[in-house]
Amino acid sequence: MKIFVTGGAGFIGSNFIHYILDNYDDYIINFDKLTYAGNIKNLEDIEAEDNYQFFKGDILDKDMMKKIFLKEDIDCIVNFAAESHVDRSISDSSQFIKTNIEGTHNLLKLALDFNIKKFVQMSTDEVYGSLDDRGSFREIDILNPTNPYAASKAAADMIVNSFYKTYGVCVNICRSSNNFGPHQHPEKLIPLCIINALNSRQLPLYGDGKNIRDWIYVKDSCRAVDAVMRKGKSGEIYNIGAGSEKTNLEVAENIIEILNRNMDLIEFVEDRKAHDYRYALNTDKIRDELNWEAEHKFYSALKKTVDWYYQHVDWWE
Ligand SMILES: NC(=O)c1ccc[n+]([C@@H]2O[C@H](COP(=O)([O-])OP(=O)(O)OC[C@H]3O[C@@H](n4cnc5c(N)ncnc54)[C@H](O)[C@@H]3O)[C@@H](O)[C@H]2O)c1
Repeated sequence: MKIFVTGGAGFIGSNFIHYILDNYDDYIINFDKLTYAGNIKNLEDIEAEDNYQFFKGDILDKDMMKKIFLKEDIDCIVNFAAESHVDRSISDSSQFIKTNIEGTHNLLKLALDFNIKKFVQMSTDEVYGSLDDRGSFREIDILNPTNPYAASKAAADMIVNSFYKTYGVCVNICRSSNNFGPHQHPEKLIPLCIINALNSRQLPLYGDGKNIRDWIYVKDSCRAVDAVMRKGKSGEIYNIGAGSEKTNLEVAENIIEILNRNMDLIEFVEDRKAHDYRYALNTDKIRDELNWEAEHKFYSALKKTVDWYYQHVDWWE
């Protein structure tokens, strides 16, 4: 199978490409703009492989993508390309609207024009908005995003769904909880805390640090996207999560504990605007229909992640 992966030089995309090439004979075309968040070094170990090709390009560039689709016999599109950092979307939402919404639309048009067998959209639990202390979101729940990043992803989900309903494009949407693991940009909570703790710098936590996220190790999440791509029923949405709910404070404390640093490094800073209190996903559907389950436990996967950042100072510096 020939898979057109967008955003493959980013955190989840690069882990996904490695997962596919490690487990299948598929051919991967990685299409990535290499924004500040993309790092082609994430793939240097596979760049010479016969079944891998990289194009530096923008999903807003319809002509460039069309040329590739005319030449290559692509079976499947997996769209990871996005502006992905909530804080940046709060400072300036413009690029989020372009890449996350317009870019997804461009890819859907290609899927339609080239009769692509499967289009997989990587989405997020943030599209559902915030929960209080009880319950979890199911795929049928209404979307209620609260920040520009989440809103742009929700808009993209709606357009993806419309291409299924209107044109019969074979689509799936993956709504994943917070990922962590190797290759994540240091602006995100877990790498930021690891790097700051390694350097004995303060670990900044928004508000009182009590906001709750549902964490999943990136390798589990890539396995789930793969299961959806191969076995997902057309037009269906699948939540992806490991059920590891942690407050941001617990995450920071765990990292300090693993690195044997002092808890005094934790610093509470002014809260993020529209900071969602809690995300949690019900993942019965992907378990029951696709037989997928997370394999990694939070604390041991966090230890592995801390170790990866410790061993790869050159990557994050
Ligand atoms: N990281 C998470 O916890 C998480 C959770 C749920 C969903 N997601 C979604 O998963 C996807 C991947 O997230 P990530 O954390 O790997 O993001 P990332 O920021 O690490 O990587 C994004 C990649 O997309 C590329 N890119 C950005 N704009 C582009 C454009 N216009 N054209 C082509 N390439 C472009 C970047 O260069 C980068 O390589 C995103 O769609 C994100 O919304 C992420």
